[in-house]
Amino acid sequence: VARKVGYIVGSLSKDSINRILSTCLIAVAPDGLEFTEIPIGDLPLYNRDLDNDYPASATALKDAIASSDALLFITPEYNRSIPGALKNAIDWASRPWGQNSFDHVPAGVIGTSPGNIGTAVGQQTLRLCLSFVNARQMTAPEAYIQFDPEIYLPTGEVTDAESKEVLASYMQEFQEHVERVLTVLPRN
Ligand code: FNR
Repeated sequence: VARKVGYIVGSLSKDSINRILSTCLIAVAPDGLEFTEIPIGDLPLYNRDLDNDYPASATALKDAIASSDALLFITPEYNRSIPGALKNAIDWASRPWGQNSFDHVPAGVIGTSPGNIGTAVGQQTLRLCLSFVNARQMTAPEAYIQFDPEIYLPTGEVTDAESKEVLASYMQEFQEHVERVLTVLPRN
């Protein structure tokens, strides 16, 4: 059976290098994973006063997560943390209290930056949030990708064999992680 992976890009930029990375990851993913982007750009700022009256964009976010077998987060690091837009989406989806969308959902974290820290610190911040909302994260391998526009192309092509293998092996491990989690914690 194909597993439905909802992927969330932490950047809202139309030129996002993390969106390019997502395209490259999908291109090298093993058979058996189907990818759908879960958009986060139209969400208002989270406010618990709306917990009984969720806006349509936030309900759509929760529905998209509910219909995914697994989640993949591809995010930039902003100021050694995650972009506010991504944190905002996590806050919406984690609520209303008792209806946390992330509970037991298999999840992967990856990201790219022009700098050589490659989102390492931002990913730890994201892992902290995902731990609290009880997503079943793949803890290893980690992947901190330093972006190079000559290697990672918007078409999804990866021009350097070693870099391509890093992404392919990450996705292979992700698929195995998803299967392991779903064996114990089936979705729907
Ligand atoms: C950045 N950038 C950045 N890079 C990094 O490696 N560590 C950091 O802490 C930050 N902080 C940061 C804050 C803000 C507000 C911006 C706009 C940028 C640079 C960042 O990695 C770069 O802009 C990437 O291109 C962002 O990813 P997307 O949007 O291209 O996917």
